[in-house]
Amino acid sequence: MDEQLAIHGGPKAVPEGAIRPWPPIDHVDREMVLASLAGANHAFGPNCEAFQEEFAAWNGNRFAITTNSGTAALHMCVAACGCGAGDEVIVTAYSWSSSATCILHHNAIPVFVDINWGTMNIDVEKIEAAITEKTKAIIAVHLHGLAVDMRSVMAVAKRHGLKVIEDCCQAHGATFAGRKVGTFGDCAAFSFNQNKCLCAGEGGMFVTDDQTLFDAAKQLWSFGETRTPLEDRDYHAYALGWMYRNSDLNAAFGRAQLTRVEQYLEQQKANAARLTECLADAPHLILPTQLDGHGHNWYNYTVRFDMAELGHVDDAAAFRDKLGKALRAEGVQTSVWQKFILPAMTVFQAKNGYGNGCPWSCPHARPVDYALEQFPTAQRHADWHTGMTVPLRAPNGPDAAELTAAGFHKVMTHIDQVNQME
Ligand SMILES: Cc1ncc(COP(=O)(O)O)c(C=O)c1O
Repeated sequence: MDEQLAIHGGPKAVPEGAIRPWPPIDHVDREMVLASLAGANHAFGPNCEAFQEEFAAWNGNRFAITTNSGTAALHMCVAACGCGAGDEVIVTAYSWSSSATCILHHNAIPVFVDINWGTMNIDVEKIEAAITEKTKAIIAVHLHGLAVDMRSVMAVAKRHGLKVIEDCCQAHGATFAGRKVGTFGDCAAFSFNQNKCLCAGEGGMFVTDDQTLFDAAKQLWSFGETRTPLEDRDYHAYALGWMYRNSDLNAAFGRAQLTRVEQYLEQQKANAARLTECLADAPHLILPTQLDGHGHNWYNYTVRFDMAELGHVDDAAAFRDKLGKALRAEGVQTSVWQKFILPAMTVFQAKNGYGNGCPWSCPHARPVDYALEQFPTAQRHADWHTGMTVPLRAPNGPDAAELTAAGFHKVMTHIDQVNQME
């Protein structure tokens, strides 16, 4: 009990090199990427088409379009669902910025809903109260790899004739009621960015079962054209389009990783279970909620420090930052995922989207209020949490979870030494 924390010069709980980097690379990755390099098409090429087919089959969707980011796929979802100038789209108050800026990208207006403390996802009980005559769609973000209660979301959407978009950028393989995310709503977006559970360096996927949404998304994806670069193009912009296509090299990498994704997800689940066991008796921690019927993929294992117990409710974020510093000094790979709740970000507070107040000042729009008192749970979560990703990922095994937990135990049982930190 009298040991020194590493921040004060003691030995580290997690030795250097004990946590291995993500993703594991093997001969399949090398062969597929080198074959793409040796091929004739490094832009949207044959690996892109194959990736779309293989991903759609893996996730259980009729159509897939591979993109250069998850954000691009989200923008395609917003556009395909017919959200446009002045339309409102409901989204959680706590997520990655582009879960909400994708709405602005198509001139529509985000309306934020506070989160549920237990799930860290949108509070499904509060969605209905946020619906107005302008509401067109709901974005369900399956944050940290825990599915939103899609039964509730789909029921509200049906009652009000709204479209449902799933942001699955963190949720590859996560399930709700035994069904994979990305198969509940009208369309969905996945990310293959470096840290995601399926990594292709960068990249994304738009998925849907609906032919009309597929056609609309495809048009936006490639310059407003109606044909893919592998078809007989007429180089004609039929509507406003962007350049959101994936490249053959990234798709080759993604395809190679997809062959092992189930194995990775199993390992991650086992690692999370071990971390939960090892942290069960660590003081002052609130562990993630485990819910029946939700198959968590454990993209981000997020804990909250109990600031009420620790006596730091009034300076929660500052004390959390000290705890984070002490943990990282122990070698624990942990970080604050999002310090800012979405409505607190400058783009929303200053409403500085396109200049001249657009899209909020658009004649089709209704005034929308981003006063922060509406989101107390999201703010408390933002101030109290820290998260872990790489220690849970393959090739790390339960030993990485045990070392990580040892670091937490050490810091959380020496709060007096954390209080002494500058
Ligand atoms: C919830 C969520 N949505 C969207 C994105 C955007 O994905 P990308 O970085 O591929 O554009 C991310 C990734 O960081 C995310 O975590």
